[in-house]
Amino acid sequence: MFEIRQTTSADKALLEDMYLEEVEDHAERARKFAEDLINRFKTMIALQDDLLCGTLTWDTRGGYDDGVAEIIGLGVNEKFKRQGIAKKLVNYFIQETSKFYSEKGYSLRVVLLFMEGTNEVARKFYSNLGFNEAARLPKLYPQDDGVIWTKHI
Ligand SMILES: CC(C)(COP(=O)(O)OP(=O)(O)OC[C@H]1O[C@@H](n2cnc3c(N)ncnc32)[C@H](O)[C@@H]1OP(=O)(O)O)[C@@H](O)C(=O)NCCC(=O)NCCS
Repeated sequence: MFEIRQTTSADKALLEDMYLEEVEDHAERARKFAEDLINRFKTMIALQDDLLCGTLTWDTRGGYDDGVAEIIGLGVNEKFKRQGIAKKLVNYFIQETSKFYSEKGYSLRVVLLFMEGTNEVARKFYSNLGFNEAARLPKLYPQDDGVIWTKHI
């Protein structure tokens, strides 16, 4: 069964294992990664038969009256790529974040995100979902420019 849901503290081991398998074999950074996703940001996870296959981390930017939400991180595990999971995560994020704002009496107006200027896969992925490149920030990252992409809802 496929599902997308908000993460909870019960997902800590799942997130740590994902970091160790997909990013690097570093227990301390895996623990910090899991804690950030659970406590510091808001995170949605995609699961296929209880296996973690992708994460989307986000937060509000500015006051609720601005209606701006930022996608801080989006990743799909290697063996689940090109199966539409990231697309489902972003669509779920827009649906749930719209509710989040409207429950507070505001509207989600703009989704923004930063990506590395040479990330061609992310560029194709987000342009297919109706996002547009809004600004370039020279040398934002150690090895690359940063690019801000936005979608007006
Ligand atoms: C970018 C990423 C999240 C996409 O995840 P995904 O689940 O594989 O993407 P989807 O299957 O939902 O792809 C939807 C569409 O995006 C485009 N796309 C996705 N991956 C692509 C690739 N490798 N090459 C070209 N187009 C691609 C395609 O149009 C695809 O539709 P299609 O498969 O019907 O052609 C994933 O590649 C990833 O985790 N990358 C590393 C982390 C990253 O770059 N995150 C985003 C930075 S902000």
